[in-house]
Amino acid sequence: MTTTVRGVIAPGKGAKVELTTIVVPDPGPGEALVQVQACGVCHTDLHYREGGIGDDYPYLLGHEAAGVVEAVGDGVTSVAPGDFVVLNWRAVCGECRACRRGRPWYCFNTHNATQKMTLEDGTTLSPALGIGAFADKTLVAAGQCTKVDPAAKPEVAGLLGCGVMAGLGAAINTAPVTRGDSVAVIGCGGVGDAAILGAVLNGARTIIAVDIDPRKLEWARQFGATHVINSREADPVAAIQELTGGNGADVVIEAIGRPETYQQAFYARDLAGTVVLVGVPTPDMRIDLPLLDVFGRGGALKSSWYGDCLPERDFPVLIDLYLQGRLPLDKFVSETIALDAVEEAFAKMERGEVLRSVVTLG
Ligand code: APR
Ligand code: ZN
Ligand code: ZN
Repeated sequence: MTTTVRGVIAPGKGAKVELTTIVVPDPGPGEALVQVQACGVCHTDLHYREGGIGDDYPYLLGHEAAGVVEAVGDGVTSVAPGDFVVLNWRAVCGECRACRRGRPWYCFNTHNATQKMTLEDGTTLSPALGIGAFADKTLVAAGQCTKVDPAAKPEVAGLLGCGVMAGLGAAINTAPVTRGDSVAVIGCGGVGDAAILGAVLNGARTIIAVDIDPRKLEWARQFGATHVINSREADPVAAIQELTGGNGADVVIEAIGRPETYQQAFYARDLAGTVVLVGVPTPDMRIDLPLLDVFGRGGALKSSWYGDCLPERDFPVLIDLYLQGRLPLDKFVSETIALDAVEEAFAKMERGEVLRSVVTLG
């Protein structure tokens, strides 16, 4: 059996997205069918559309989602129909070398649904990040569904599925920020602002936001930045040093993914400090650093994949903190939009007008 629903696809490299009819199989063993309630618009969706991630068109876009489990396949015990879930792209395998060594947040063999969703003519769809949630319903591996408190609004909860978790996790898991740290965040979009929230949560003493857009710096303050630097107007390395007793920050989080801002992060940290790269670079980017500085400055240069999160461990906790008023995740939702407005949302995202546009369904 199959279900036919609406879905937003990227039909080919650079082509505008289309709202079309897609065919979703009933869940097989280990799979879950999810009725999507909300799905955020992320840069990665745009990268798929532009051909920056692969050439497996058509893509079924959307991957920052929350919804309700409608049906599960054989052998699924972790979730049941009616459960409110956040979808994740880290359903850990438990068997790869990272999982076996007790570091499942690096899992190298994460699970997705086995069966394929298709167009009506049978063309196989490639779901973005193995999710594909700009659709009324989507088919995922059961492990991609993380149960959270249903009191949370879907448009807020779904954001943990990607960018917001990446930023929060860069601060709370990868760095990790500890109480009393000075933290600088370079790039204050959704990911950077989430890193600021993570720094607040872990008790940072000083939180310095760096961006080139004054609007973004204002928002960063609202998320908890104690100082802001417009790096068009001031040298961010000197300014961060000045705000940290001349030393540099204990942790610098780069949330853009560019060589020049990575270099700023590298030099803006204190001796033995930590740099976390959570922004995603493109294949052409290069960096040239004196190796002596890499050695002489010590500390740690880390990358943060999906905030080193473990969905089962992190999502329910973060949702509870949100419901208790201790983590203002709702501030990331700039607007809610309909399923046919994704293309327009890409344009707003590129103009820097929104932190997150979120499609709501149902
Ligand atoms: N210096 C400082 N800030 C900059 C610079 C720069 N040279 N260039 C861009 N910015 C700022 C932008 O003004 C914007 O506020 O960086 C921010 C980037 O934010 P978004 O474009 O909203 O991106 P976001 O969703 O936060 O993702 C950031 O993380 O997960 C990755 O793929 C994602 O690489 C992307 C990054
Ligand atoms: Zn694994
Ligand atoms: Zn994303």
